[in-house]
Amino acid sequence: MQALILEQQDGKTISSVQTVEDSRLPEGDVTIDIDWSSLNYKDALAITGKGKIIRNFPMVPGIDFSGHVRASEDPRFHAGQQVLLTGWGVGENHWGGLAGQARVKGDWLVAMPKGMDGRKAMIIGTAGFTAMLCVMALEEAGIRPESGEIVVTGASGGVGSTAVTLLHALGYQVAAVSGRESTHDYLRSIGAHRILGREEFAETRPLEKQVWAGAIDTVGDKVLAKVLAQMNYGGCVAACGLAGGFALPTTVMPFILRNVRLQGVDSVMTPASRRAQAWERLVRDLPESFYTQSATEISLEQAPEFAGKIMNNQFHGRALVKIA
Ligand SMILES: NC(=O)c1ccc[n+]([C@@H]2O[C@H](COP(=O)([O-])OP(=O)(O)OC[C@H]3O[C@@H](n4cnc5c(N)ncnc54)[C@H](OP(=O)(O)O)[C@@H]3O)[C@@H](O)[C@H]2O)c1
Repeated sequence: MQALILEQQDGKTISSVQTVEDSRLPEGDVTIDIDWSSLNYKDALAITGKGKIIRNFPMVPGIDFSGHVRASEDPRFHAGQQVLLTGWGVGENHWGGLAGQARVKGDWLVAMPKGMDGRKAMIIGTAGFTAMLCVMALEEAGIRPESGEIVVTGASGGVGSTAVTLLHALGYQVAAVSGRESTHDYLRSIGAHRILGREEFAETRPLEKQVWAGAIDTVGDKVLAKVLAQMNYGGCVAACGLAGGFALPTTVMPFILRNVRLQGVDSVMTPASRRAQAWERLVRDLPESFYTQSATEISLEQAPEFAGKIMNNQFHGRALVKIA
């Protein structure tokens, strides 16, 4: 099989597409022929070596994939069945999706939901799945379209784009925060009703004028601090990312004076039942237009180039990787 292999040379991460014997696949009870994978922020960190995502080399990156079961020792899966996977440390500490095949635990797989196919599933990928979990978190906090405006940060990225699209489709008014003028038309086309520059989120006071009923934050640091200070009384922030940094320079004020909820969202260890629920919602709520407006299809060979673009904030939407 062909695989993107990451190796270390003089402390640097080197990536190359290589032909690999499938006998080198890691242990697992289901072997999958991969059709599609995608590039997420974490993949970009791993492939470029800019983040300490991978500790054991050589490693096949790719934190998500879709494909067909080749062989299974798990009774829940049979040869030919379509499956998808996101998270569980695959592509971090277990060979991942940027390869012709993968071998994983059956527990990590999701049977392809009705109404979904492998290509669409990886246009969504980890990023879109996480956006859905964030939307569900806002709903569970009682935030409805009539509650007020929702702000999405890092809006032109993978999580951000899917969040904007989903919220707009569900009838919410969505404000997008972006660091790039070049993506404004794109953000409007997927449903942002207004766009704010990232620079407006550089400084904050502990409390500011109340603006947002809800927020989906993919950026962290000062941007998240500003969003918290601008939340309406009783609002909720679903925080899933750190594209701007892992710090959180805030105070307790929004929490104790405005009853604001900060809900963390993790997609890696999400239990199976909630995964199934999120994928069902994606089938139902994500408009067909998303798959054309937000996807760029690339080859396995192009993955390192596009990982560089993601790290340099020169890519928007989702990078779908064609494997088969
Ligand atoms: N918790 C989880 O399970 C989970 C799952 C998936 C992703 N994530 C995290 O969520 C974040 C977004 O992931 P993604 O796949 O959507 O990445 P992405 O496609 O690269 O999008 C990130 C976006 O953040 C903005 N951004 C980039 N650099 C920034 C900086 N220095 N300061 C402020 N904003 C910056 C950019 O949006 P604009 O150009 O529009 O400003 C960029 O498009 C990442 O931190 C990722 O690790 C977490």
